[in-house]
Amino acid sequence: MAKIFVSGVAGFLGSHLAEALIKEGHKVVGCDNLIGGYIDNVPEGVDFHQVDCKYLNTMKELLNGVDIVYHCACTAYEGLSVFSPHLVCENTYQISVTMITAAIHNKVKRFVYCSSMARYGAQPTLPFTEDMEPKPQDPYGISKLAAEKVLKNLAETHGMEYVIAVPHNIIGPRQKYDDPYRNVASIMINLMLQGKQPIIYGDGQQKRCFSFVQDDIDCLIKLGFQDNVAGEIINIGPDEEFVTIKELAETLSDLLNFDLKPRYFPDRPREVKLATCSADKARRLLGYKTKTTLKEGLKQMIDYIKERKTRPFRYTFALEIINEKTPETWKNKLF
Ligand SMILES: NC(=O)c1ccc[n+]([C@@H]2O[C@H](COP(=O)([O-])OP(=O)(O)OC[C@H]3O[C@@H](n4cnc5c(N)ncnc54)[C@H](O)[C@@H]3O)[C@@H](O)[C@H]2O)c1
Repeated sequence: MAKIFVSGVAGFLGSHLAEALIKEGHKVVGCDNLIGGYIDNVPEGVDFHQVDCKYLNTMKELLNGVDIVYHCACTAYEGLSVFSPHLVCENTYQISVTMITAAIHNKVKRFVYCSSMARYGAQPTLPFTEDMEPKPQDPYGISKLAAEKVLKNLAETHGMEYVIAVPHNIIGPRQKYDDPYRNVASIMINLMLQGKQPIIYGDGQQKRCFSFVQDDIDCLIKLGFQDNVAGEIINIGPDEEFVTIKELAETLSDLLNFDLKPRYFPDRPREVKLATCSADKARRLLGYKTKTTLKEGLKQMIDYIKERKTRPFRYTFALEIINEKTPETWKNKLF
């Protein structure tokens, strides 16, 4: 049994991970400042602290005696990051440096960092493989990559094991669905269940590969424990079922029996059109296997949102840059 710290434990990924770790018999301590996520996501049994990761001294105290850190806390807002860079970079890059520092201070054995496929940016070929030179296209991706580099640097300097997880396009219950800035599938379901048409930016031909959260959790857990993954960067998620955003809307409308007439808006600046990751390395090192189809995953999300009831979207973040490039949907709170 290990003592494990999960930052962002009220979030989507952090809460599922913490729940699975507790089921395996580990002691889990976690924190979240609730800027994203939901307080009722925090699984029973977590020693939960409602606190911001930016407070170094508090993090040093909370990480006392911890064996493994899973750093999931982040404002994971890729599209918003060109309009609210201060918020996104602080809660992507700066808090990561804080967590890494606190971990090294406490002689934590291994630090698992949740990066993002945004680190790859726009690549000439698909799918993205871990050996590609990262070319992030926006402040979110740049911050993720910068945090990875600081982690590698400090971990190598001070002798801490680290692993970089690159999860991508995860869907499933507990994902925030009243947030207008991210989580496309959740936004579409929340809108359609309210009888409202989904929003599509650009022509809807953006290509993605969604992964169901439970399929990723086993791999994430292994990243904390397996010897052969120390120092590795590993994509976590499937590479079998590519869909466009338009096809995602069509699949959801079939599942919901909804008369689909999407509302189209101009492209969002710097959105990467084709973004899919190879799962070869995860298959090889972690035995990754896709178990849940996109349709099945979406059904579970629909059930989750129906049970909790639809919600109005909450425009809680200040747009730091408002100009002619800022999407109208956000500037004028159109959904
Ligand atoms: N969900 C995905 O598809 C996906 C894909 C790639 C990478 N990731 C990465 O996985 C991690 C988890 O993502 P998620 O989808 O669960 O997002 P999430 O927003 O549901 O969870 C993140 C949690 O971190 C918390 N948080 C943010 N800033 C904080 C701070 N300063 N102090 C304390 N808590 C803070 C939020 O309140 C939230 O509960 C993130 O690092 C994200 O970048 C997620």
